[in-house]
Amino acid sequence: MLIAGLTGLEYRGYDSAGIATIFEDAFQVRKASGRLCNLEEELHKHPVSGHVGIGHTRWATHGKPSVVNCHPHCDHSGRVAVVHNGIIENYLELKEMLMRQGIVFRTETDTEVVAQLLGYYDQGDMLATLQKVLPMLQGSFALGILSLREPEKIFAVRLGCPLIVGSADGASYLGSDVSALLEYTRDMFILEDLEIAVLQEKGIAFYHPDGTPLEKKSLHISWSASAAQKDGFDHFMLKEIYEQPQVLLSTLKHYVEEETFTFRWDTLPFTKEQALNLERITIVACGTAYHAGMMGKAMIERLARIKVEADIASEYRYSETMSGEGETLIAVSQSGETADTIAALRKAKERGHRVIALTNVIGSSVARESDAVMYTLAGPEIAVASTKAYSTQVLLFAVLAVALAQLRGQITAQESADYLRELFSIPGKVDAILDCRPQVEAFARQQISCKDIFFIGRQMDYYTSLEAALKLKEISYLHSEAYAAGELKHGTIALIDDSTLVVAIATQEKIIEKTMSNVQEVVARGATILLVTSHPELDGAGIAERWLVPQGRDLFLPMLTMVYMQLFAYYMALQKGCDIDKPRNLAKSVTVE
Ligand code: AGP
Repeated sequence: MLIAGLTGLEYRGYDSAGIATIFEDAFQVRKASGRLCNLEEELHKHPVSGHVGIGHTRWATHGKPSVVNCHPHCDHSGRVAVVHNGIIENYLELKEMLMRQGIVFRTETDTEVVAQLLGYYDQGDMLATLQKVLPMLQGSFALGILSLREPEKIFAVRLGCPLIVGSADGASYLGSDVSALLEYTRDMFILEDLEIAVLQEKGIAFYHPDGTPLEKKSLHISWSASAAQKDGFDHFMLKEIYEQPQVLLSTLKHYVEEETFTFRWDTLPFTKEQALNLERITIVACGTAYHAGMMGKAMIERLARIKVEADIASEYRYSETMSGEGETLIAVSQSGETADTIAALRKAKERGHRVIALTNVIGSSVARESDAVMYTLAGPEIAVASTKAYSTQVLLFAVLAVALAQLRGQITAQESADYLRELFSIPGKVDAILDCRPQVEAFARQQISCKDIFFIGRQMDYYTSLEAALKLKEISYLHSEAYAAGELKHGTIALIDDSTLVVAIATQEKIIEKTMSNVQEVVARGATILLVTSHPELDGAGIAERWLVPQGRDLFLPMLTMVYMQLFAYYMALQKGCDIDKPRNLAKSVTVE
């Protein structure tokens, strides 16, 4: 069961794994570096018993990936075992304090400090011990704790990192996200910071940080367990790319009436009055979600005529940016648990801004801490490389842009309906691009020896380029860069030669000629050109390959272009033999700063 749970969380990224069970008044601990199969092998050689246990996949922060540093960690006396997500920032100070008391440390990790502290103070009542120890910890944590003095219990507590518990059929479970628990229960409890859960066979008791009992409401998760299976695809990433037509449609139908092309206003986070009073929107996010945010900026500014900034969450959280009245912050996050995005939204709240979450995970931290939420209905995204979450995020920005434009009187109800009708055509167009998969695969095969890839485009095509380059980097480890096409000649063009592949994206009518001039500049330097365009008339000299994007309004074309780019990244990584769903060094959900 522990291995199955860890398998459900494997997509989050890790470099070692371990478990501990309680059997006959002792811990049985097994650990292995690398993939979970190594731990399974270890368990075949040295099986464990018990009906109370904890498991963990570690992504190294303090101390290299190794068996000794991998969790669970036990205290000096061997009576407490701990698994931990997050970072204990003051661990050195605490370690020195404990070492002065004669405690001997075995690992380089910050987590061992937690196990040692709990072991040092525990007198047989872990709930009381937690009340003493938790205030000593600075940083972030989600902890699963076993104590030999209370062998029928698992203690769980978190600060800043997600932790979910649930019980069903005479068993209780904890996990760092819903995927690990889906097989057993859909009714889950999401722990808030410093709430303590005590899990037992008969159920779960909750406590406030001061130890007083707490009533908690469960949350029903509608995702099916099979949504987290590969369904015959070789990789989750490919499966998720192929799910896009369907998840785009279900997301759209949640916000818009298909028969009338009108909004379901109660699903949108703005009233007419709020929309009219909006002076500025700031969008914050990380990685792919940030790139979706840039699309959001372009669409909202163009349609609703509101000033929008898109900022990287890790920058925004420390910025001294000028902020004004009437400002709304939109935090975009697939997981809803990205530490920098959460910090950015807290900063915005301190500044008195209204905060709207755009997230995929019901009950996630970003959702819970925001004033209003728009969910992408993408279902669980397992591959580290975000695909369907990105497209549904961009779609939601399109929905929001049209809605705000209508509310602010920038477009009529009829114009709004025309935009919405067009949005309903997107899933079918995505399907058409997916049919071009053999062409994408064949071209990727020709590029096997390519070392540098540049993605160029202007405005929204540039934003697509940023996401295309990120996708390629993270799963194929190929060097790639995105450039605003007009900026290339200000330095970077020096890198272009006959060994470079340049992917030129040209969908935005107004600036298409400009981008094509930039294409000629790189053709002249011998680069191989892949042109991705909605304009069939663009072809000719120097263009090695051309992929056609179905026609439509400029504003919505990036949703289509990106599907080609996802497939391209996938096939480049596939032929390089990369671990596509779990790329090196990456975690799906970055819950530490
Ligand atoms: C996407 O392919 C990346 N793995 C990554 O950039 C991701 O989008 C980023 O970490 C933000 O995650 P979130 O959407 O869960 O907040």
